[in-house]
Amino acid sequence: MATVLVASNRGPVSYVLDEDGSLTSRRGGGGLVSGLSAVSADDAQESLWVCAALGEGDREAVRRGIAEPGVRMLDIPPDVYADAYNGIANSVLWFLHHHLYDISREPVFDAEFRRRWESYRAYNRAFAEALAAEADQGAAVLVQDYHLALVPWMLRELRPDLRIGHFTHTPWVSSEYLRMVPADIVEELLWGMLGADELGFHTWGWASFFIDCCSQRDDATGMAEGVWPSGDPWHGVEYRRYGFGKGRTRVRAFPLGVDGDELRALAYRPEVDERVALLREEVGDRQTIVRVDRTELSKNILRGLLAYRELLTVHPEWRDRVVHLASAYPSRQDLESYRAYTASVTELAEEINAEFGTPGWTPVLVSVEDDFTRSLAAYRIADVALVNPVRDGMNLVAKEIPVVSEAGCALVLSTGAGAHRELGADALTVNPFDVSETAEALHTALSMPPSERSDRTKRLAAAATALPPQRWFLAQLEALRGS
Ligand code: G6P
Repeated sequence: MATVLVASNRGPVSYVLDEDGSLTSRRGGGGLVSGLSAVSADDAQESLWVCAALGEGDREAVRRGIAEPGVRMLDIPPDVYADAYNGIANSVLWFLHHHLYDISREPVFDAEFRRRWESYRAYNRAFAEALAAEADQGAAVLVQDYHLALVPWMLRELRPDLRIGHFTHTPWVSSEYLRMVPADIVEELLWGMLGADELGFHTWGWASFFIDCCSQRDDATGMAEGVWPSGDPWHGVEYRRYGFGKGRTRVRAFPLGVDGDELRALAYRPEVDERVALLREEVGDRQTIVRVDRTELSKNILRGLLAYRELLTVHPEWRDRVVHLASAYPSRQDLESYRAYTASVTELAEEINAEFGTPGWTPVLVSVEDDFTRSLAAYRIADVALVNPVRDGMNLVAKEIPVVSEAGCALVLSTGAGAHRELGADALTVNPFDVSETAEALHTALSMPPSERSDRTKRLAAAATALPPQRWFLAQLEALRGS
């Protein structure tokens, strides 16, 4: 039985089924993995990470009883999983929280949606049941993200003794946008979340959107009562829940940062040195504008490229003096809109190269592959970093680049990134939709004196490492136990 449990769709390890039938495991990275290591290091704690089996390799590992210590993978039927993950989490909830719909066509709430929602419920229930079975009396359970929004309430019904937290890594939808969704689904979603003792968001802005969604409902007082406690040391709203006696939910912000030492150690390994040398050869003595994203609709890669094109048009003095290094990790390619977006990114980069390129200069170098070594090398040599999402929970790239940058880089950062709340003072701020403003910000960034770049980068790096994953995780655990 575990005393600290984490639940997320994507776990810390995944398996690939090789042609000869053997299984190879791959460990993932990211904030949660480092965060949970703080707990595992303490022998007094028994921790367990519950996640979904994502593909055939993972499912085969479950069937063969192969598991890493401290990890339990749930083998959810593939059709149920596909409907829950692709059909609801990534096509509906992600689109709502990022305001991504083209509302002339989508969303459509019909019988097919209801069928998928049933799968989303079943997938959340599978997690709730596994957590209920594995948790020690009074254990702390930290549920992650929009995939598992219904788990807190389901788990509370099964195990009222547990301390339940939920953290949202995305933005939260505005109450106005949420009005598109049928009322019973909204109710289930908000109630699902309010089953937690603690709700965490990356910024207070996203937390207040959640609070607004609760209070904007016509029957808000019938649902839960929000009170602003006066004189409390914590920043948040407390909900008194109905239905479970004296239950209450606290809503707060925990802005995840990066672990500077760990990241620098990764970025200065010999294999990254080699890639730095190769990139420098390609770039020559030109400046670099670096961006690294998943091929994700909300990352605004297309408007970033349009801004670069406008820069080269309006400020021709930069031609042949700058290279745009764009890394895009393929993401969610089961979804048609993501495949189309990925293709558009490559096409637009090719257009720009055709328009401005010369035999000795390729203006944009796009890499559409999952190549973290190249990204780290690009971070190191970045003169300018472009992070311009339309809407993003936090955006850790904006925090990683200043930490790794060798000589200092100017950060062009959109107001859509959660990270803008902490980094805005030393970044060049842009409206993500304003291509001309972004082009001008790139010009200012490229023209910035090296000493100013370096001063700003030091302050950005300090802000970026303020709440590294281990402290971020422990702060939530403490809050959960103390609440
Ligand atoms: C966002 C979400 C994470 C998710 C990640 C990658 O950062 O908040 O929960 O794991 O995207 O997306 P994927 O669908 O590949 O897990």
